[in-house]
Amino acid sequence: MELPGVLDLPGARLRALREDDWALDHSLSRVADVAQWTYYPADVGVDEARERVARSLTQRAEGRGGRFVVERSGVPLGTIGLSLRVDGPHLYYAFLPAGRGLGLATEAVRALSRWALEHGADVVHARTMVGNVASEGVLERASFDRGPLDVEPDGVSVTRWSRRADSQPTLK
Ligand SMILES: CC(C)(COP(=O)(O)OP(=O)(O)OC[C@H]1O[C@@H](n2cnc3c(N)ncnc32)[C@H](O)[C@@H]1OP(=O)(O)O)[C@@H](O)C(=O)NCCC(=O)NCCS
Repeated sequence: MELPGVLDLPGARLRALREDDWALDHSLSRVADVAQWTYYPADVGVDEARERVARSLTQRAEGRGGRFVVERSGVPLGTIGLSLRVDGPHLYYAFLPAGRGLGLATEAVRALSRWALEHGADVVHARTMVGNVASEGVLERASFDRGPLDVEPDGVSVTRWSRRADSQPTLK
């Protein structure tokens, strides 16, 4: 599955991550609930932010997935990506406060999961740490089905989510 360079959303777009997007990762790591609910470490320095972006670019170059910047009028507001694993693509995302409350995360999750389902995936997976109500709302609005609770190898409790090609859009 070769990920696209750009995916259009209503009033915004996803574009493939570039080397100079380290500044977005640097900002995201300073948002308290990003470090709380994702595996982004808090308060990364410039070098670490650059390394994170470089790792994502290598992941895409090697066909193991890839990451996008969600931007509106050229302004980066968040990031979303797919990690391609043996059981299918796994989705992850995080938004700056300026990109929230707009329905943008829901649109981005809808668009990228739909793209994967239309390009060979039978299912798209996501995981939310228990208590992450905002992200649960995103996945519900984007037609993901809530699955069982699970415990990650590092001991973190998560809810598993999946969207299949035949999932119906919800009315929320
Ligand atoms: C999870 C996260 C991306 C959700 O962001 P969000 O902006 O709340 O999500 P949405 O894009 O779905 O927007 C929903 C909000 O926009 C409002 N909204 C406005 N227009 C909307 C539209 N057209 N469609 C849907 N919602 C809309 C909704 O009412 C809702 O507002 P509320 O939060 O006051 O109830 C964000 O909280 C985040 O980055 N958290 C930290 C990182 C994280 O948890 N990542 C996920 C790990 S699993």
